[in-house]
Amino acid sequence: MGYRRIAIDPLTPTIGAEVSGVDLRDPLDDRTYDEVHGALVEHGVIFFRDQAIDHEQHLSFGRRFGALHVHPAAPCVAGNPELMLIHTDADSTRQNGDKWHSDVSCDEEPPMGSVLHLHTVPESGGDTLFSNMYAAWDALSEPMKGLLAPLDARHESAHLYEGLYGDATVRRRNEWPSAVHPVVRTHPVSGRPALYVNSVFTRRILGVTERESRALLDFLFVHVANPHFQCRFRWRENSIAFWDNRCVQHHAMWDYFPKTRTGTRVTIAGDRPRR
Ligand code: SIN
Repeated sequence: MGYRRIAIDPLTPTIGAEVSGVDLRDPLDDRTYDEVHGALVEHGVIFFRDQAIDHEQHLSFGRRFGALHVHPAAPCVAGNPELMLIHTDADSTRQNGDKWHSDVSCDEEPPMGSVLHLHTVPESGGDTLFSNMYAAWDALSEPMKGLLAPLDARHESAHLYEGLYGDATVRRRNEWPSAVHPVVRTHPVSGRPALYVNSVFTRRILGVTERESRALLDFLFVHVANPHFQCRFRWRENSIAFWDNRCVQHHAMWDYFPKTRTGTRVTIAGDRPRR
């Protein structure tokens, strides 16, 4: 392996790597950008420690990877909808992301990646789990892959967002997003197939009966949570996780009530999933 500017230490052979030797307060030069981007594509999710970035530095880091995505309604930080608030405390009745999902897959062009910076974390708990959807696809039998490969699925958000953000004043779009995507998508950079259904947004596999869709989705939602496809990240103050929504699902643990966990997510726009 040639000389690298940064160090990349895999968490598991399947998913996740910790990246060190880069200060994200500074703009990434081209070579460091290539190495960070390469690590993201290779490991699906990358982690950085001790990054006391401010909001502008967080936004600049995200923009280095593409235009930013704006959530249809989630609360934001400093009045900027590109800075999504991630916050849970003793008054919370729910936590963002505490089921397996790929961010905003209900959009026609779902986000490519998400960069989460936490500055307040509980002493223990509040880990985020990540699952590799290439591994999930590869582990299916050939007959199951053959069944799923030509199918599309509908991803919706009204069932979730109406309850959370039903107040018209917080909505940034007139309609709650909904989209049809292939059940298996080809990652535009790696060229690898990744399973693309998730328990938060995917409501119906099309082209089969309602009961068949339900049975397939129930099976796949259990399948994606297989620990063999996973890594688990323990947060510290000023840690960052950057995940690739095109080939990774995540699940944020809410096991630290009534403690506080707070940070900001910058989300990078993506393209329409292709088979
Ligand atoms: C999310 O963006 O889904 C939340 C992830 C987390 O809080 O760990």
